[in-house]
Amino acid sequence: MSLYSLLRPLVFTLPPERAHRLAIHALQRGLVPQARLYDARLEVTLAGLTLPNPVGLAAGFDKNAEAFAGAFRAGFGWVEIGTVTPKPQVGNPRPRVFRLVEEAAVINRLGFNNDGVDMVAARLARRRLAGGILGGNIGKNKESVDASADYVTAARALYPLVDYLTVNISSPNTPGLRDLQAATALERLMTALYALRSQFTLSGAARKPIFVKLSPDNDAATMREIANLARAMNFDGLIISNTTIARDHIHQHRLAAEAGGLSGRPLFAHSTEMLRQLYRLTEGKIPLIGVGGIASAADAYEKIRAGASAVQLYTALIYQGFGLVERINRGIIAQMEREGVSSLAALVGKDV
Ligand code: FNR
Repeated sequence: MSLYSLLRPLVFTLPPERAHRLAIHALQRGLVPQARLYDARLEVTLAGLTLPNPVGLAAGFDKNAEAFAGAFRAGFGWVEIGTVTPKPQVGNPRPRVFRLVEEAAVINRLGFNNDGVDMVAARLARRRLAGGILGGNIGKNKESVDASADYVTAARALYPLVDYLTVNISSPNTPGLRDLQAATALERLMTALYALRSQFTLSGAARKPIFVKLSPDNDAATMREIANLARAMNFDGLIISNTTIARDHIHQHRLAAEAGGLSGRPLFAHSTEMLRQLYRLTEGKIPLIGVGGIASAADAYEKIRAGASAVQLYTALIYQGFGLVERINRGIIAQMEREGVSSLAALVGKDV
């Protein structure tokens, strides 16, 4: 039994955002389980990045780059900070995060509350170089009229300070954001970001991957168009998926009608199916990152077999604590041993 399972009833007496602040403080002070596991069999390559293990902290937990060092110490192989917007933003009125305990799920409509890219960049600049792979997830301000300009501004500030960028065009809580997934809009946005990257590489900086994070609510035609564009523009990777506005299977829950994005267990099956589809559509040629409802080693393993080169999670931490990270990694190794597999790369897309 983990310490967190004893603490959880107490943690759940707090409003979700208070509990989240506590978790950030605990990470900063090393008050979460510290991982000891390192195993070369867990190493994976993702768009040229070498991850010590495939389990990443999804965006939204460390929006302001305050606790990523602690997240690495807890055993995450990679961490994505953000979403960060050019200007600081307070987000939507509270309450705006809801625990659906019976479903091991969360609904959030935070709306990109964050300190803004200047403050986050200053924090990252003080970052000690130790640790795993760090990504910066970027978005647009709610009131901004030129989305593309916002992404370029945020990307310019973070590019030198992170190992990769993620373009978040899939949060359901910023009006119009998901429209950027339409092929013409996405092509324009990525062209602008590639131009920015060229400026960096021409002046001697390293070429860093730019991932695109997708919604699980896209229809089949949109997914096909995105996959085609990803092939044509040779995307570095696609993250599937963000939270869903669908409420399948949880209609009866008293909080189901709260507006916002649903994450956790009810998202697992659908986001995994979207991942499988995307793997098929891109013929395994574009690196995919599987996110949505991962709460065990078996879940992570299933995402990998469905086409993910690496995975991310967030909501399961709320229900299981940070000890989960090492448990998942140990469980992946145990499963590899049972199946006689020596590298995770060999498993990617096996079920498709
Ligand atoms: C998120 N997520 C998220 N994603 C993103 O790209 N930018 C963000 O700022 C946030 N913020 C955020 C806040 C909260 C409270 C939650 C629960 C989630 C989405 C997250 O990264 C992930 O894609 C989904 O939550 C699905 O994974 P899990 O949580 O089911 O493992």
